[in-house]
Amino acid sequence: MIARLIDTIELREMTNNDLQQVIAIEKRSYDFPWSDVVIKDCLVNKYDCYVAGNDNILGYMISKITNQDSHILNLTIDCEYRGLGIGSSFLDLMIKKCKLHRSEYIYLEVRINNSIARSLYQKFGFRSIGVRKNYYRNKTGREDAIVYRRNLLI
Ligand SMILES: CC(C)(COP(=O)(O)OP(=O)(O)OC[C@H]1O[C@@H](n2cnc3c(N)ncnc32)[C@H](O)[C@@H]1OP(=O)(O)O)[C@@H](O)C(=O)NCCC(=O)NCCS
Repeated sequence: MIARLIDTIELREMTNNDLQQVIAIEKRSYDFPWSDVVIKDCLVNKYDCYVAGNDNILGYMISKITNQDSHILNLTIDCEYRGLGIGSSFLDLMIKKCKLHRSEYIYLEVRINNSIARSLYQKFGFRSIGVRKNYYRNKTGREDAIVYRRNLLI
């Protein structure tokens, strides 16, 4: 039997050793990336940070999981590994962990023009619950954020 690539990719907790690769992916992926300090602080402050891959990091998710509301703060897959199901695997993991913690809702914000990410979140049961006007910087000015929520109780 031929193994699917996605089944061979490990998701694990992020460590300090992963930071340089995570920061490099962040810079490659966004016009306005998070700073190195912000990413390091998430790890230091015990946010729920995960990576895909072992020595070679393919993507990461930074989240905060609590027994009430949880948040996905950053979900990024390195350019050449997109479309393989890794983003979906991170959302599966997030939903499982949140249910274990008895979290009721997962929240996130996404750029209104990021149709790929919006399609991913909708596929996983996230529903749009509002708009933050001019929330993000973009190359021509500002862009709205759509706020999504996943109800874990249904
Ligand atoms: C958005 C992102 C995380 C998706 O991760 P991914 O691993 O590529 O996604 P998957 O392979 O798991 O795809 C899952 C779903 O996403 C959507 N999707 C993925 N690639 C897509 C594409 N090229 N066009 C349209 N929809 C797409 C589809 O709904 C897809 O489901 P399907 O395969 O049943 O059609 C990834 O593209 C990424 O890192 N983008 C840049 C950073 C970013 O925008 N992050 C989100 C910020 S909120």
